[in-house]
Amino acid sequence: MFRSPWQRHKDLISIHDLTTDEVEALFQLAANVKARPDRYRTALAGQTLAMIFEKSSTRTRVSFEVGMYQLGGLATFLSSRDIQIGRGETIEDTAKVLSRYVSGIMARTFAHATVTNLAKYATVPVINGLTDLLHPCQALTDYFTAREQFGNTKGLTLAYIGDGNNMAHSLMFGGPKVGMSVRVASPEGYRPKPEIVELAKQDARAAGTAIEVVTRPEEAVRGAHVVYTDVFASMGQEAEAQVRLKAFAGYQVTPELMETADKDAVFMHCLPCHRGEEVLADVADGRWSVIFDEAENRLHVQKAIMLMLMMQH
Ligand code: CP
Ligand code: NVA
Repeated sequence: MFRSPWQRHKDLISIHDLTTDEVEALFQLAANVKARPDRYRTALAGQTLAMIFEKSSTRTRVSFEVGMYQLGGLATFLSSRDIQIGRGETIEDTAKVLSRYVSGIMARTFAHATVTNLAKYATVPVINGLTDLLHPCQALTDYFTAREQFGNTKGLTLAYIGDGNNMAHSLMFGGPKVGMSVRVASPEGYRPKPEIVELAKQDARAAGTAIEVVTRPEEAVRGAHVVYTDVFASMGQEAEAQVRLKAFAGYQVTPELMETADKDAVFMHCLPCHRGEEVLADVADGRWSVIFDEAENRLHVQKAIMLMLMMQH
């Protein structure tokens, strides 16, 4: 009988809710799932996952759907355009109805409150598949990838360059949980939310790591082990694309910038990326890049997340 080390959690909404031990347990399970997928072929047999999407997705949709299949279950894709949410059915009713059919819900939404409300009213686990505020599945995968690359994450530094967005927030929440420091470099007006920075700093103090928000990319990258960036305009910000292109001039990850990082530094990006904007192709496709390992690891880490939350139900 599998006793989940995440017993006290119904949902995965934010990395901030997890302890260091819970993240470590997830990574150990993900490593096992990756090494021996055959052992988990029937782990979620007969279980089902509803996947609600208000926004586009390649990685999240495919990795959850394939992951659920590989665990013996079934995932069903629900575009918010096609289900009754799009015609005004409440989140509360949707959560209650879906809970009568499925064993878990994964949701990608604009408002963060949509996911927290789903979790509040659903009797089954809810997994945050990205909101405007957070992207925990991606950041957990990124730290799992760092652990694979370096053997151990303790004492390492991640430099995040660019928009203080959902990725920046989740990476700041994740760093202290895995013993890493996080330095974010963003232009004024595009810094991470102060309340998120404050919470992450509290965690960092307790963990003996650091969270810093600086202005110049060079300040963040110097000596860093992981250099991370994300698009200038996230989903839902398409109308701001031109303004943002100007605001983020100088926030491009170039080979010259990578040379100032640690000699063994890796480059990460959640993807999709825009070569020539936030990162040059010479970096995204160069010797530092682990972007496709990150993308693959979404599958293994999310299978472990589903096991943690759904094996106990
Ligand atoms: N990184 C990520 O979440 O990718 P998708 O938007 O393709 O799901
Ligand atoms: N910040 C990006 C991440 C995409 C995976 C967005 O929200 O569009």
